[in-house]
Parts: sequence; C-alpha cells; structure tokens
Amino acid sequence: MDDPAFDTQTDLQTQSILLAAANHDNASLRNLLRNSSANVQDSETGFTPLHAAIAACEPDEDHAKDVNGHVNGDTNDVAEGQKQEIEGAVKTMKLLFENGAIWNDLDVKGETPGCIAHRLGLKELYELCVDAGVRAEMLLSRLEQYQLLGDNEEDEDEEEDEEDEVEDVAEGVETIDISHGDESTENPNYLASNLTFDRDRLLDGSANGVMMEWETTLMQRSAELLAPTEGLRVLNVGHGMGIIDGIFHEKKPKAHHIIEAHPDVIKRMKEQGWDKKPGVFIHEGRWQDIVPGLVEKGELFDAIYFDTFAEEYKALREFFTEYVIGLLDPAGGADGNGGKFGLFNGMGADRQVVYDVYNKIVEFDLFEAGFDTEWETIPVPNLDEHGEWEGVRRKYWVLAEYKLPTCSFIG
Ligand SMILES: C[S@@+](CC[C@H](N)C(=O)[O-])C[C@H]1O[C@@H](n2cnc3c(N)ncnc32)[C@H](O)[C@@H]1O
Repeated sequence: MDDPAFDTQTDLQTQSILLAAANHDNASLRNLLRNSSANVQDSETGFTPLHAAIAACEPDEDHAKDVNGHVNGDTNDVAEGQKQEIEGAVKTMKLLFENGAIWNDLDVKGETPGCIAHRLGLKELYELCVDAGVRAEMLLSRLEQYQLLGDNEEDEDEEEDEEDEVEDVAEGVETIDISHGDESTENPNYLASNLTFDRDRLLDGSANGVMMEWETTLMQRSAELLAPTEGLRVLNVGHGMGIIDGIFHEKKPKAHHIIEAHPDVIKRMKEQGWDKKPGVFIHEGRWQDIVPGLVEKGELFDAIYFDTFAEEYKALREFFTEYVIGLLDPAGGADGNGGKFGLFNGMGADRQVVYDVYNKIVEFDLFEAGFDTEWETIPVPNLDEHGEWEGVRRKYWVLAEYKLPTCSFIG
C-alpha cells in the first residue's frame, strides 16, 4: 500500500535537490546527495538536477534584449552575472556527474540536459554534457566487452574483479540506441522485409527510410575523398540506391567490389545491369559472412566505404577494428601512401548532443584501431521544408551539418 507520508517526504527531498541544483548551491546539494540519488525527476516537468542546473542559466526576461537588440539594464552587470551563473553551473554539473547523474535523461519536452544547453547557446555546459556522454557510453561498451570475455573465460576471478569495478562506475549510466534507421529494426528483420524503391528513396517494410536522395551530396563528397583518381580498387559495403556505387563507377575503378545482403536490392542491382559492368564483383550476403573470406584471399583495396542499415554501432566498430586493417592496402590509395576508409556518419543524428557524443567515440575507437580521422563539415538543407519526411516513419536526420570522416592508417 502507498504511504502518503513517505510520498510527501520523497517529493520534498526531490524538490530540495532540484532547488539546490538550480541555485548552484553545492554545499546543500552535496549534503542532500548523501541520502538521495542525483537522478530524481520533477513529476511535472521531468527535470533532473542537471536540467535544473543548466536551465537556471537562461537569461531572465528583465535582461532579455529589447526590439533594438539592446540588453535591458547595465550590459556589463548582465554579462558579469551570466558569467558567474555559468561558473556556478559548471561546478554543480561536475558534482552531479561525480554522483552518478545520467547525462541523457529526457524531460517532458523530450530534451536532455545537453539539448537545453545547446538551445540556450551555453557552449561550456554543452561540452560538459558531451564529455559525460562519451565517458558513459565508452564505459558501457567496455562493460559489454568484459561480459563477452567473461562468458568465454574459464578462470574468471580477475575478470570479475575488473568487471565489478566497471559496473560500479557505470552504475546509473544509460545507453542510447544509435542504429541507422529505426532502432526497433534489427538486421535480420530488416533483411526479411519487403523494400519499396521510389524515385528518390528506399523504404523498408515498416516505412523506415533506408536511403534517401538528399544524401547524394554526402555520397558525392565521400567518393571524391576516397577515390580521387581513376583505376583504383574499391570496396563498398551496402548498395542501397546505388548512389555511391554509381559515383565510384564513373571513376572507372580497376576492381569494384560491392557487398549487399538484401534480396530486393540484389534483384534490382541485376535488373539495372550491375552484374555485367566491367570490374564489378557483387558479393551477395551479409558483410559479416563475406568479409572474412576476402581477408583470407588477401584482397586489398585503395578505398573502402561502409554504409549498412539497421545495425548497431558495435557492428561498425567490429568492421573497422577487425577487418579494415586487413583489407586496406598500406601502400595503396591515389598517392601510394595508403588506402582510405570512409563510413556513413549518421549515428545519433536525430539529436545534436548524441551525434556529437558519437563523433567523439567513433574517432576514439578509430584511433584505437589504428586510424587517423580527418573531418569535413557539409551543410544539410532543411529537410522538413522540402517535405522529405512525408510518408517516412521516423526522421533519422534532424541536424544542419553532416560531419564527414575520412580515415587513413596512423603515421
Ligand atoms: C543506407 S543503404 C546504403 C546506401 C548507399 N550508400 C547508397 O549510396 O545508395 C544500406 C544498405 O546496406 C544493406 N545492408 C544492411 N545490412 C547489411 C549487412 N549486414 N551486410 C551487407 N549489406 C547490408 C542494405 O540492404 C542497404 O542496401
């Protein structure tokens, strides 16, 4: 049975924590956190202490700019007040993160603390959220690796100790789903669904966008960076609408390997004569089943591009950690200084803060796998204005800029 006295007590505790966070009153907050979690949420707004600490930095109405752009009140005082407010927020946020605050809880408006910082243009606070996200996601992925290792090991004592340590740190951390497309679509389900090919898009059986024509600019630039000259050896994983393959093909590659798993896409490729184009080798099946054979045969490439669908980030990580190193020619590429690897960078692209977290993670993981990454920023037009999402189940892209990564061997 519910105990109303207990509920009131908990509610009071929650309100005290949120108030201390909003006031950046770290002494009170530290005290309150001794007996309570840093992840309480206001029942009406859904604010966590992190939301409250950041939202408190929003300039108040009195100091908002007037119609002529002049700040009401003394400009210097306002600027100084804002600076102090932000310094206070930084300290409070650090205290909250030290106490296990979750970086990506949503409030009732669907905003994470980082989204609020982004909306208010509070760069320093935004970066704290991104860094916390990177730490949390990296910890979770390490924890998963330990668990996998643990499952395979006989003598598990040491593993368990380390695993406990990571679990302690990761406690309270929540993961995010970042698969390209709808997060509920798993690769085997997707591969069994019927696809629809429109003139300007490819949809799966649940109307999820698999590939859309607006991405052509991104494919064009990726292909230019990976294969700038004619006569190279190219591997593309995921044919989709054939946009990047078409661009690669214009470069008359010496060898053009394409791995594609979906029967509908393969059927269409053949209808369009891809199987008869000079230099083209179509590998029918999942890359997971095809790539080990290519490595075993010693096939080498000057350019590799990876863009699949309904796979988690760890599949992409596995691809570049386990296989790219064996497939990319260290003496290849247009200049003979080593081949180049590229990927469709759409992870977390339905929310700026998650995209920024994943850009850092992918760069870090690529570095660990032996690659330097160069980034190029490409503007993306407003897709809503162009009606691109009509009839598509979920917008997988909401951002104004695409970050294009091109990777080469370190050194
Ligand atoms: C986003 S589309 C690729 C779009 C392509 N870059 C273009 O320019 O049109 C993803 C493609 O990867 C394929 N795919 C998904 N999972 C795969 C897997 N495990 N192995 C190989 N291909 C896969 C899908 O069937 C789809 O054709």
